[in-house]
Amino acid sequence: MNPRTKNILCAAIGLALATSALCAGFDVDGDLMRGIDDTAKDLDSNVAQKDAKAAAADARSLVETFSNVEAHYGEKPETADAVGFAHKTQELAAQALKAIEANDFDAASTAVEGLTRSCKNCHNVYKKD
Ligand code: HEC
Repeated sequence: MNPRTKNILCAAIGLALATSALCAGFDVDGDLMRGIDDTAKDLDSNVAQKDAKAAAADARSLVETFSNVEAHYGEKPETADAVGFAHKTQELAAQALKAIEANDFDAASTAVEGLTRSCKNCHNVYKKD
């Protein structure tokens, strides 16, 4: 193998390893969910107190997290329903964010109620015990 080919090959393998390490770093487990639980409770109380800045930060974080959850389940054909549940939850967090940004705390509160219900939909199917 000439040195140039070897360099390209090594760079490609290095990238593949780095990517798989990065992807393996995201898992839907108790730790992740406890963090989500804290953020969702925080969001609920920040919406109740009409603290737009803090509530928007919580909602934004949930949108991002559930987008990762959706991608995580999307890699496995046997968890097709979980993709839908994660997507729905993400949508409700985005709805809450939009309402918060518009200073419409009634709409935000309705979205947060829906969000909490959408957690249970997924748990009924995918959370053991
Ligand atoms: C796409 C599916 C899905 C959605 C949506 C989801 N969860 Fe979960 N949740 C799980 C799974 C799977 C577990 C079990 C994880 C484990 O223990 O390995 C879990 C576990 C939990 C736990 C228990 C963690 C512990 O102590 O072990 C809490 C709390 C929790 N989720 C909160 C939430 C909240 C709050 C929401 C909504 C904002 C939510 N979840 C949305 C799938 C989901």
